[in-house]
Amino acid sequence: MKTRITEMFGIEHPIIQGGMHYVGFAEMAAAVSNAGGLGIITGLTQGTPEKLADEIARCKDMTDKPIGVNLTFLPTVNAPDYPGLVRVIIEAGVKIVETAGNNPAQVLPFFKDAGVKVIHKCTSVRHSLKAQSIGCDAVSVDGFECGGHPGEDDIPNMILLPRAADELEIPFVASGGMADGRSLVASLAMGADGMNMGTRFIATKEAPVHENVKKAIVAASELDTRLVMRPLRNTERVMTNDAVEELLRIEKEKGADLKFEDVIEQVAGVYPRIMMEGEMDAGAWSCGMVAGLIDDIPTCQELIDSIMAEAEAIITQRLAGFQNA
Ligand SMILES: Cc1cc2nc3c(=O)[nH]c(=O)nc-3n(C[C@H](O)[C@H](O)[C@H](O)COP(=O)(O)O)c2cc1C
Repeated sequence: MKTRITEMFGIEHPIIQGGMHYVGFAEMAAAVSNAGGLGIITGLTQGTPEKLADEIARCKDMTDKPIGVNLTFLPTVNAPDYPGLVRVIIEAGVKIVETAGNNPAQVLPFFKDAGVKVIHKCTSVRHSLKAQSIGCDAVSVDGFECGGHPGEDDIPNMILLPRAADELEIPFVASGGMADGRSLVASLAMGADGMNMGTRFIATKEAPVHENVKKAIVAASELDTRLVMRPLRNTERVMTNDAVEELLRIEKEKGADLKFEDVIEQVAGVYPRIMMEGEMDAGAWSCGMVAGLIDDIPTCQELIDSIMAEAEAIITQRLAGFQNA
C-alpha cells in the first residue's frame, strides 16, 4: 500500500509503532521495522544521550529498515538532556523523529538541517495546525481512546480524524484505538495516511516486556481503562489495577487541592517494576481502550501481515461489493 506516509518514511506499510516508555527498546522497534512498519525507540526511557546512542546502534544491528526515535517533551523538575539526545539522534543517522508533549519548535531547526522528518503527536486539531505551521512534516492524531495522554478535550477519533483531515495539509496518521485491518481502512476512509498503534504492539512476541503485561492486555476488556491525573490537567489513560483505584480515591478525597506529590507513589518511577518485573499492581501504566480488541500475542510480522491482508480484503471485497450491488 502506498500513501503519503509510506512515501515520506520509506516504509512498506502505513503502520507506525508509537514511542512507549519502557517498551520502545531496540527489540520492539526492529521487529516492527523488519515487518515493514515503522518501529520507534523511546528516547527518554534510555536515560542519557550515550545510552540512547547505544540503543540506536543495537537496533541498527537488528534491522536495516528505517527506524525512528520518540522524543517526549514533558514539564519535569529534572529536565532530560534534550540537546544531547537531539545530537545523538542526528549523529546516528536516524531520519525520523516522533515528538510528543510540548511544542517541538526549539528542536525543529536541528532536525530540518539534518534532513530528519518530524512527526508530532497531537490530541487536537488546533495543536495539529500549530505543528503544521511550525514546520513539522506530519502529525500523529491521538483520539480520546488512546493509551497514554489523550489531552483534555475528550474528542474520540470518529470526530477528531475527519476534523483533522478537513483542516490539515500535511499528512497524518490516526492513533488511539487502532488494532487491525478494520482500523486501518477506517483511518484511511477518514482522511489519514496510515495508523499508529501503541497498546496493540505491546501484546506481541517481540515486545521486550514481562509476560504479565501482555497477559493483562489480552485479559482486559474495553471497560478496563481509567483516566487519572485529570485534576492536574495531565490526564493519562491507564489500565485499572489496585494502585489506580487508590490513586482515584486520593483524587476524590483531595478534590481541587490535589497536587502531584499526592499521587507520586502511584505514578513516579513505576514503569520498570511493571514492564520489566511484571508487578502489575505497582502503579499506573498507560493502556488504551483498544485492549478490548486484543486477544492474542502474535509476532510483529504476523500482526502486520494480518492487518494488511484484512485491510485489502475489506477494500477489495466488502467495500467493492457494496458498490457493485
Ligand atoms: C505503555 C505505554 C507507554 C507510552 N509511552 C509514551 C511515551 O513515552 N511517549 C509518547 O509520546 N507516547 C507514549 N505512549 C502513547 C503511544 O505512543 C500511542 O500514541 C498510543 O498508545 C496510541 O493509542 P493506543 O494505545 O490505543 O494504540 C505510550 C503508550 C503506552 C500504551
